[in-house]
Amino acid sequence: MQIWIILAHSYSQGISKSGKIPWICKKDMSFMKSITTAPGLKNGLLMGRKTFESIGRILPNRENIIVSSQKLESSAHIVESISAGLEKGRELELDILWVFGGAIIYEAFLTDPQFSQLIDGFIITTTPERPCDTFIQTNIYKFIEQHQYTSIYPPRVLERVADGIYELSIYSRLPSLREEWDPIVRSLDS
Ligand SMILES: NC(=O)c1ccc[n+]([C@@H]2O[C@H](COP(=O)([O-])OP(=O)(O)OC[C@H]3O[C@@H](n4cnc5c(N)ncnc54)[C@H](OP(=O)(O)O)[C@@H]3O)[C@@H](O)[C@H]2O)c1
Repeated sequence: MQIWIILAHSYSQGISKSGKIPWICKKDMSFMKSITTAPGLKNGLLMGRKTFESIGRILPNRENIIVSSQKLESSAHIVESISAGLEKGRELELDILWVFGGAIIYEAFLTDPQFSQLIDGFIITTTPERPCDTFIQTNIYKFIEQHQYTSIYPPRVLERVADGIYELSIYSRLPSLREEWDPIVRSLDS
């Protein structure tokens, strides 16, 4: 099972405001959906309870694994810890487990060596600066550099707006991507 972090953040590493993502980039949303539902791969999403609540539903064609200390009523997979979420992903025989946020879950992967060492790659969209109240404290790019991930596709500008750009970057330590991803990434250029 590969483990990938997927996220969008502002220049100051903000990821949300008042429980919502404070930007809309349709191309990013559509890419995120396509890559996490790539045909031929069994995909799962690992997310914190607050992110699950902010989405408000189970995302289809992916196993939804929700981390919470509470006994939630849901047909998603509810697990009591990140480790239990990883175990659930293995039990479900996922090809890729996407670390889907929010800040508490991302931070755990970036700071706790038992999780950091498992990260195969990152799909990151940088956005123009927007007011946020939830931030990733760890410098993601220092982490990427220190752990020797490299950019495996040229960065793609998804959208230009008056005050900046939405840009997608993909970093990995794996020598090559699964061929299932190539058409999805290249479709961004058309
Ligand atoms: N920009 C992006 O790419 C992006 C991506 C995803 C999410 N977001 C945003 O991020 C925000 C939420 O982030 P957040 O950091 O506040 O919350 P979160 O990480 O989504 O969820 C936090 C909750 O997850 C559970 N949890 C986390 N770690 C746990 C652990 N080790 N053991 C047991 N339970 C654990 C706890 O739930 P209980 O309290 O139930 O125990 C905790 O309160 C949302 O507004 C969402 O829109 C943005």
